[in-house]
Amino acid sequence: MINKNVFSKTKSSLIKINIAVVISFFVIFSIFIYSYFKGLTYNSVDKNLKDELENITVQLTSSAMFSPIVLNDPSNMVYVYEGDQVKYYTRNGYFEDMLPKVRENKKNSFFTYTENGYTFRELSLEIGKYKIQIIRNIDAQINSFKQLIYVFVIGIIMAIIITYFVALYLTKKALIPIENSWNNQAKFVQDASHELRTPIAIVSSKLESMLRSPNSTISDEVELIADAMKETRRIKKMINDLLCLTKEDSIATLNKEEVNIEQLIKEISDDYLDIAEIQSKEFSINLNVENKIVITDKNKLRQLILIFIDNAFKYTNKNDSIVINLMEEGSDIVISIEDSGIGIKCNEIPHIFDRFFRSESVRNKDIDGSGIGLSIAKMLSTSLGIDINVKSKINEFTKFNLTIRNK
Ligand SMILES: Nc1ncnc2c1ncn2[C@@H]1O[C@H](COP(=O)(O)OP(=O)(O)OP(=O)(O)O)[C@@H](O)[C@H]1O
Ligand SMILES: [Mg+2]
Repeated sequence: MINKNVFSKTKSSLIKINIAVVISFFVIFSIFIYSYFKGLTYNSVDKNLKDELENITVQLTSSAMFSPIVLNDPSNMVYVYEGDQVKYYTRNGYFEDMLPKVRENKKNSFFTYTENGYTFRELSLEIGKYKIQIIRNIDAQINSFKQLIYVFVIGIIMAIIITYFVALYLTKKALIPIENSWNNQAKFVQDASHELRTPIAIVSSKLESMLRSPNSTISDEVELIADAMKETRRIKKMINDLLCLTKEDSIATLNKEEVNIEQLIKEISDDYLDIAEIQSKEFSINLNVENKIVITDKNKLRQLILIFIDNAFKYTNKNDSIVINLMEEGSDIVISIEDSGIGIKCNEIPHIFDRFFRSESVRNKDIDGSGIGLSIAKMLSTSLGIDINVKSKINEFTKFNLTIRNK
């Protein structure tokens, strides 16, 4: 439930952020284009008015006799006043044969205004005894500004819709790995608490049965105490393994050095010679490599090999054999750990690297373990760049090949 809420909240905030970014970009872009286009249009209208003014000024100053003015551009409207008397004006339907207002405060400047539903750009000024108004209808330009705004609004709405769907798709895709790892974590916590529950239940039941006979001595209850201690050791190991599993970062950081692989295998197996003797198992190593040096993290490689040897000893019976072979395959080095023990059913082989997986036979035989060893091995091998290959037959043998790519 928490999981779903967190993800839907993250999704919606990511979508909102995406839409906000796109809208801001489009609005800024639209304002820029609109202002640029408006500026260009007004510039060309103003230039036209200025040219007209020049043309009129020349005509006014050259002829004392006031003959009709010839316009540069017939779509301009010109009004010339001498004092309050109109000396010249262009006939048009815009002002319904009324004279346009002369705005004293707007003299010598360009300005825009609306009259009778039409929009005009005007340049008005005084030259000598004449007041001149040059007016141009700019409805077409105003319409194109409106069209532009309309296009931008439609564009922004389309962009919002498209961004919404694209963002929905992308955030969904981007959140998949996070969602998976979140679910894995949740499953991990569930599995871990489930696995820890069994030994804790055993310990508490042993303690309870001891409480039932308070007069007993330690030697009377030695069996119960031993069982409880065994379970606490199991809990301790499990917690250590779990901690190791969660420290993925420390597993991924490698401390590479030149490692003499032959020497390392000898060191590791020396510790198991006594165990093999105590458990009456045959334990041998065959070292067949010429190139003994590999560049790797020695401690992590040791930890990896130990996991397989530990399993080999755990899942073999009296008189079984465990063999470690060190071989060369081209430039690669292969460490194989083979035992003639209880083996793994072929349908269980794909699961042995899963956290907490233990084969049915192992669970039934009550062999100690928590099913974490091989998942740590998998993480270690990934970080060391080592391939693991498994072959096994139930009740016959199990063989793990670790291939160290020595480039
Ligand atoms: N050499 C082997 N022979 C037979 N079965 C094996 C062997 N190695 C692993 N398995 C099977 O794979 C399972 C997982 O092994 P893994 O090492 O991860 O856990 P574990 O040995 O049960 O517990 P622990 O976390 O203490 O190592 C084992 O429970 C066992 O069923
Ligand atoms: Mg194990």
